[in-house]
Amino acid sequence: MVSNGKYNAAKLALKLVKDGMVLGIGSGTTVEIFLNLLGERIREEGLVVYGIPTSYQSYYAAIRNGVKIIDLVEHEPELCIDGADQVDAKMNCIKGGGGAMTREKIVAKASKKVVIIVDESKLVERLSMPVPVEVLPFAYGYVERKLKEMGAEVKLRHGSGKIGPVVTDNGNFVVDCDFGEIDDRDVEEMEERVKFLTGVVESGIFPKKMIDQVIAGSSSSANFL
Ligand code: A5P
Repeated sequence: MVSNGKYNAAKLALKLVKDGMVLGIGSGTTVEIFLNLLGERIREEGLVVYGIPTSYQSYYAAIRNGVKIIDLVEHEPELCIDGADQVDAKMNCIKGGGGAMTREKIVAKASKKVVIIVDESKLVERLSMPVPVEVLPFAYGYVERKLKEMGAEVKLRHGSGKIGPVVTDNGNFVVDCDFGEIDDRDVEEMEERVKFLTGVVESGIFPKKMIDQVIAGSSSSANFL
């Protein structure tokens, strides 16, 4: 069932898209709703929109909806639209529920403006869910020990439809690291400390400085925070 909060947030974000725009395209169900709505505008208004997707999921959803796929070699997205798993009161986010955080972070950093679209159920006072961390398979044992030394409870992510660990679109593992509640003053430092571990590719911590706006949708409306 489509959550109305996700739909309403995606619908408001759609108003930011202009003809000829280069979009950074995140991943997840909210972004897929956004792409389906964008597809309607492309078909009905004849808009031309270029996109740089961050996963196979959003790559195919973008193509199905008439977005022209380009890459970061020659283009810089004007606007990046992405979802999130948690957003705290200061707009720090945790992403990576779908394991796409590495490409999402690259595209977000390459974009001039980043807008996060979420169902209001994702809004929290403090970040508290396990932080997804993408790890080179060869480094997994070492990185897991180091993350435990930092105080995290670490779980290698397993999926369904295949035995063994989840393998990301980049060929790596994901470990979900439970650090408990993260004070908003510690978010940036934590991102840097995790990233500093050799073998870590990227983490799902997206500090507020990377985010320009958050749109939160409820069952009846959506608002910029
Ligand atoms: C993908 O790895 C994530 O960062 C998604 O952006 C995040 O999990 C939000 O997904 P939903 O829109 O499906 O909730």
